[in-house]
Amino acid sequence: MQKLSFPAPENVLLQPKVGVFDSGVGGLSVLAACVRLLPQARFFYYGDNAHAPYGEMRAEEIARRVRRAMRAFRARRVNAAVIACNTATAACAEEMRAEFCFPVLGMEPAVAPAARVCRNVLVLATPFTAQSARLHALLARFPDCRFTVAALPRLAAAVERYFACGKRLTLFDHLPRAACDGVVLGCTHYALFRDEIAAFYGVPVFDGAEGTARRLCRVLGVGTDDHLRPTQNPNKRFTKSCNKWGEKGVVFLGNGKKVNKYAYNSNICFTNF
Ligand code: DGL
Repeated sequence: MQKLSFPAPENVLLQPKVGVFDSGVGGLSVLAACVRLLPQARFFYYGDNAHAPYGEMRAEEIARRVRRAMRAFRARRVNAAVIACNTATAACAEEMRAEFCFPVLGMEPAVAPAARVCRNVLVLATPFTAQSARLHALLARFPDCRFTVAALPRLAAAVERYFACGKRLTLFDHLPRAACDGVVLGCTHYALFRDEIAAFYGVPVFDGAEGTARRLCRVLGVGTDDHLRPTQNPNKRFTKSCNKWGEKGVVFLGNGKKVNKYAYNSNICFTNF
């Protein structure tokens, strides 16, 4: 008779706990992808919107702020944390990995998927990410593709104000005109306006949310690419006026709690939850 083997119960994470961090609302695009792929997990979202934006901060300052979030996650005994912020990843992901005993995942701008199908790619990022050695090392891995990196000094802050305070946002004032056949969103805040940015450039747009969520599944040992449910309704990922985060086991932490409450609970959620 064939012997069946099952994973030992202690290796099966029935309800993993995951911390997701961003300087503010941008990481919600990553959180949504993680919730989709790991509906059984419990999420803690730390949006440091009391101190956003991070794009022109010094690396030490960013690391100090990220460390606070990682400590908050450690206190909640998370099984893994995601730095859902390209800027903070470039500034201090390695440092956090060395300091904390749970796996710390970072964001990687979706340069690889873009380089597979495009030849002339525009990369939009915060000033910190745009100058980072990490991004340039990544671009250098794709010598057949031409990259133009545009640092957008004010867009993340404008997106933050839009969601947190309802301030008007004229997105197109922030976007550089450039001929390209693909756009990489190198900041999770920009991914909240993915469809609008795609319409502006008229080319495919790539962001790292889905890839990061898949990596999280692998790190936690739950789900594989075969089991992952495809994104439903990819063109209508974002909507207003619903209150679903709490129902999905997402707890909000962080300093800007008052703003968080408005932005996270009353203003936004993702339709394909
Ligand atoms: N959402 C962040 C990123 O992916 C940071 C934006 C900011 O705070 O400037 O880079």
